[in-house]
Amino acid sequence: MYDVLDSRSVLEVLRPVQDPELRKSLVELNMIRNVNIDNGKVSFTLVLTTPACPLREFIVEDCKKAVKKLPGVTEINVEVTAETPQQKNLPDATGTLRDRNGVPGVKNILAVSSGKGGVGKSTVAVNVAVALAQTGAKVGLLDADIYGPNDPTMLGLADAQIVVRSTEKGEVLEPAFNHGVKLVSMGFLIDKDQPVIWRGPMLNGVIRQFLYQVEWGELDYLIVDMPPGTGDAQLTLTQAVPMAGAVIVTTPQTVALLDARKGLRMFQQMNVPVLGIVENMSYFIPPDMPDKQYDIFGSGGGSKTATELGVPLLGCVPLEISTRVGGDSGVPIVVAEPNSASAKALKAIALTIAGKVSVAALTA
Ligand SMILES: Nc1ncnc2c1ncn2[C@@H]1O[C@H](COP(=O)(O)OP(=O)(O)OP(=O)(O)O)[C@@H](O)[C@H]1O
Ligand SMILES: [Mg+2]
Repeated sequence: MYDVLDSRSVLEVLRPVQDPELRKSLVELNMIRNVNIDNGKVSFTLVLTTPACPLREFIVEDCKKAVKKLPGVTEINVEVTAETPQQKNLPDATGTLRDRNGVPGVKNILAVSSGKGGVGKSTVAVNVAVALAQTGAKVGLLDADIYGPNDPTMLGLADAQIVVRSTEKGEVLEPAFNHGVKLVSMGFLIDKDQPVIWRGPMLNGVIRQFLYQVEWGELDYLIVDMPPGTGDAQLTLTQAVPMAGAVIVTTPQTVALLDARKGLRMFQQMNVPVLGIVENMSYFIPPDMPDKQYDIFGSGGGSKTATELGVPLLGCVPLEISTRVGGDSGVPIVVAEPNSASAKALKAIALTIAGKVSVAALTA
C-alpha cells in the first residue's frame, strides 16, 4: 500500500482512524500533530479533546495499529496531550444571548443539580471535580449553595481563608485550592455558626460575583454545585452564563425521581443541555461484606427515568460509608479510596461528562 515511511504516509494511514465519540478522522480533526520519523522510530502527538478522555487508551491503540502497517516501523511513540474545546454560546430560552456573558478563561460551565435535597449533589460535584483534576484538567468548583455551603468541608478547606483584593475593577476573590480544584464558596465569607438570610436579588448578586469577580484563571471546567430545588439560584445561573450542560443527581426512590424530573425540565426550559442523570445511593455496600449489595432505596429508578426522559444515565454510585467519611473529613473518596466501588463509579462519571461536553462543543 505505502512503500515509504515518511510523515505524509504516517498521516495517510492515520486518516481512517476516527475519534470514536466524534466519529470523525483524527487527522481531519487536527488531533495528530508533530509527526516525526527517525530511523524507523515514529513519534507523534495525539491531542485529545479533553484530558479526561474516557477512550484515551483505545485511541492510542488504534493509532499504533494503523502506523504498524507501514514498512520499516521499529518503534511507535505517542505523546498524549489535550486541548479542551470552548463550549458554544448556547442561545437562551428566548433564542438570544441577551445578558449572558461567559466567564473569561473558563471553557465549560457545568451545573450539578437536583430537585430534592440531600441526594448527593455536593458529593458528586466535589468528586467529579477532583476526578477531572486528577486527569490533568484545570477545574474550578463554585459552591452555589449560599444557604448551606458544604463544599469547603468536603474539599478539605473548612479552615481556609479566602483572599479578597481591591482592584480597579472592584473587589475580586482569589479561590481557595485543594486536591487540584479551585473553590469559591459562601462558606469562606460567613461566620460558620450564623444562618445566612438572603433575599432573591442578593442571592443573584452573590452568584454573579462568584462567576465574574473571582480570579478563576484558565479553566477547562467550572462545576457549579447547586442548592436543592429549582429556585432563584438555578434561575440566576442559567440566566447569567451560557452553560455547557447540567447533570441531575437523584436516588432510586420514586419521590426523588419525581423531583429529578422537575429539575431536568427546568434546565430544558432554559435551553441548558441536560448531559444526563447520576443515580446516587443506588445500593448499599456493607464495609465488612464488600461483595454484597442491598437496594435500600429500590433499584433501577435512575435508568427508568433516564429512558423515560430521553437523557443518558451517566452512572450509578453505591452508598458506602467511606464516601460519607470522605465528605466529612475533606478527603474525597476518589482520593482517599480510589479503588472503592464508589470512587470507580465517580471517576467513570467524570470521564463520561468530559467526553459529552467535548462532543457537544465540537459538533454543535
Ligand atoms: N454515595 C454515597 N455514599 C455514602 N454517603 C453519601 C453518598 N452520597 C452522599 N452521601 C452523604 O449523604 C449526605 C448528603 O450528601 P450531599 O451533601 O452530597 O447531598 P446534597 O444533595 O448536596 O445535599 P443538599 O441538598 O443539602 O445540598 C452527606 O453526608 C454525604 O456524605
Ligand atoms: Mg449540597
